[in-house]
Amino acid sequence: MTVKVFAPAKINLALHVTGQRADGYHLLDSLVAFVDVGDQIAASPASQAQSTLAVTGPFADGVPTGADNLVLKAAGLTGIPMDLTLDKRLPPASGIGGGSADAAATLRAAVRLGGKMPDDILSLGADVPVCVSARSARMRGIGDDISPVTLPALHMVLLNPRVPVSTPDVFSALSLKQNAPMEDELPNWPDGLSLADWLAGQRNDLQSAAVKAAPEIAAALTVLALAPGALMVRMSGSGATCFALFETRYKADFAAQQLADSNPWWWIKSASTLP
Ligand code: C5P
Repeated sequence: MTVKVFAPAKINLALHVTGQRADGYHLLDSLVAFVDVGDQIAASPASQAQSTLAVTGPFADGVPTGADNLVLKAAGLTGIPMDLTLDKRLPPASGIGGGSADAAATLRAAVRLGGKMPDDILSLGADVPVCVSARSARMRGIGDDISPVTLPALHMVLLNPRVPVSTPDVFSALSLKQNAPMEDELPNWPDGLSLADWLAGQRNDLQSAAVKAAPEIAAALTVLALAPGALMVRMSGSGATCFALFETRYKADFAAQQLADSNPWWWIKSASTLP
């Protein structure tokens, strides 16, 4: 028996850094959505005592297949050895979940194969708990405090300028560690346009530190902002992937095609949020 689990990209629509704990981890207040672009995990009960991992797909190169891969670490927590194949379609180290989404999909696959959801999901990474539910949410604490949020459908272009960014480096380069959170009660957005309008007044507090580490991010944001119909643009996570919101999927598809034609080296995809 083989189960296949989609590992959707995670988009931080807003990401406010609200403080820092004594252990160095940062406190966040982030609005997170998941989209119809992602990796895929295929899992079957292992033929041997240990889990195995094969990596396929356009970004397979450079993904470690040894014990330090988050997928194998996640499998190790579930008590059920699996033969795993990761179809790697998201650029690694790119601020849209990637490794965390893959680890979360592995945990969900293990549960479907009769394993258990481990208690200590957070030990795999701060983004793993929100990726396990893979539903839009407000994420606070260091990523452990998650409240589901209902969002109107959003359509977007994702653009990664093909530079990997180190999350710890971006966090440690932050000049201001304590910024305002989002408002206590989030509004009820009747449609994507009103949400885009509200998001324009929010921030990603990691953005300027990431731009310093990888100036290509500034170029990505400019190019997205100039795309016809772009409602607002922002970087996701610690970068380097940026997104622009559009009123319809058709407009996002059209912009993605135009941007890909003129920037063939960049990773560019149109996407819509998952319900
Ligand atoms: O938890 P994860 O492995 O994704 O985090 C990578 C690094 O990013 C951490 O070791 C830490 O330096 C930084 N980080 C942080 N605060 C968070 C999440 C991550 O400082 N809430």
